[in-house]
Amino acid sequence: MGDTAVKKRIFSGIQPSGELTLGSYMGAIRNWNALQSEYDCVYCIVDLHAITVRQDPAQLRRRCLTQLAQYLACGLDPEKCILFVQSHVPEHAELSWILGCHTQFGELSRMTQFKQKSQQHADNITAGLFTYPVLMAADILLYQADAVPVGADQKQHVELCRDIAQRFNGVYGDVFTLPEPLIPKVGARIMSLNNPANKMSKSDPEGCVNLLDKPEDIRRKFKRAVTDSETSVRYDPEAKPGVSNLLSIYSAASGKSVAEAEAEFSGQGYGVFKNAVGEAVVELFRPIREESERLLSDKAYLEGIYRQGAERARAVAIRTLRKVHRKVGFLSR
Ligand code: TRP
Repeated sequence: MGDTAVKKRIFSGIQPSGELTLGSYMGAIRNWNALQSEYDCVYCIVDLHAITVRQDPAQLRRRCLTQLAQYLACGLDPEKCILFVQSHVPEHAELSWILGCHTQFGELSRMTQFKQKSQQHADNITAGLFTYPVLMAADILLYQADAVPVGADQKQHVELCRDIAQRFNGVYGDVFTLPEPLIPKVGARIMSLNNPANKMSKSDPEGCVNLLDKPEDIRRKFKRAVTDSETSVRYDPEAKPGVSNLLSIYSAASGKSVAEAEAEFSGQGYGVFKNAVGEAVVELFRPIREESERLLSDKAYLEGIYRQGAERARAVAIRTLRKVHRKVGFLSR
């Protein structure tokens, strides 16, 4: 990070609300990895966001640490980027309050994810769930991020973040950089192995492959993957969603193009094809799982990484928050 002044800044985060999946790997972390040498990257474990729905405290703590180990095992390099836990940098919650006072109730009411999640958690629709996008805006704006790699489902939140930033700048003068969403095209949407009409999700464990799954579990899930009643391995997401999803996964895991993969399996049955995809994922995840396990046995090392990460993140965050305090008219501390 020697020449940070000229590099553009990236911010992104994943909630520690479950295991990291093949979907989070292909759609996010793999991409984060590729960005870290070209950009000044800040990657976060967003535990404040995770508690917008009820979490088991012991599990949340364990998942935060596991997620950090997995970030590292996937190749995120603490020398090249900042890796930290959101709750360790109190400026996120502070800026979130101020931004919340510049956000309309109506804007938050229109957020698709809020509408979905408030249906899923109808017995616990908290104010935090409602203001979730404001906290996300604070995450991004604190670091003056130029670009935010996210899945398509988060595009609306990044757009709201831009609107809030623009409004704020309009009132107080230039304070925040306006961020662009960075949405990956390939492998962005990995579908459930069980039900290829749905996005791969931890709520459907048999259709979902986790980064830390044992090889036999990965093999079983691919063996049972839903395909179709034809026999040809051909990429056609409309007519053949299951096979196309498997082809995307195989292509991403093996580094071969989809066309090469189609050629490789032409004339072979789905059984052979599904086993090959499973095997490619087993091999892709093997070093990641082994390295995560090794790191998790060295808690002191992981603590050192997240402490140093929080310190570096805070240095940036404090600068932005001070400026914001001055602009809105708070008496200097
Ligand atoms: N809301 C994002 C998700 O669920 C996670 C997130 C929180 C995030 N803060 C962020 C992503 C800031 C990008 C930037 O996927």
